[in-house]
Amino acid sequence: MRKAITVTVNGRACAREVPIRLLLVDFIRDGCGLTGTHVGCGHEGRCGACTVLIEGRAHKSCLTLAVQADGKEVTTIEGLGSRGLPHHLKRAFRRYHALQCGFCTSGILMNAVDFLDENINPDEEEVRRALIGNLCRCTGYSHIVEAILAASAMRHGLKPEPPPAETEPPP
Ligand code: FES
Ligand code: FES
Repeated sequence: MRKAITVTVNGRACAREVPIRLLLVDFIRDGCGLTGTHVGCGHEGRCGACTVLIEGRAHKSCLTLAVQADGKEVTTIEGLGSRGLPHHLKRAFRRYHALQCGFCTSGILMNAVDFLDENINPDEEEVRRALIGNLCRCTGYSHIVEAILAASAMRHGLKPEPPPAETEPPP
């Protein structure tokens, strides 16, 4: 059974006729061609790599049917800031070296956007708790936590934005 749906993804209407059991993550990646949203654990809801915003709130798109997003606003990593003006969380992740392979990063960033919208000045413990649903196999989380705390402080003017990270000099 199929259903015609229209989902506004990053401000653009994406209209498709889809199987009613199609997952939102597959709609985003295959239907809309936005591959920054990743599938890590294989549709089990464990890794958080597929996290997107639906109406501004973080959701695991592997646990959401595309038809459930019909008529709604979805934001993916591609819609977070622009190339000329990256979102402050993206700038903080770069500045604080908060990623290595980057596979988990889009999901963590989308989760962090929702978290910081709800928490004005979180402490380290609250940030760590917010990341429970996002697995990262590379970083050990310390730099991710540091970047989210810095992004929060910068956003609310509690801390000036540091200059971009310097590139390592050649050996
Ligand atoms: S792919 Fe969705 S939580 Fe892992
Ligand atoms: S940076 Fe590699 S899994 Fe997080």
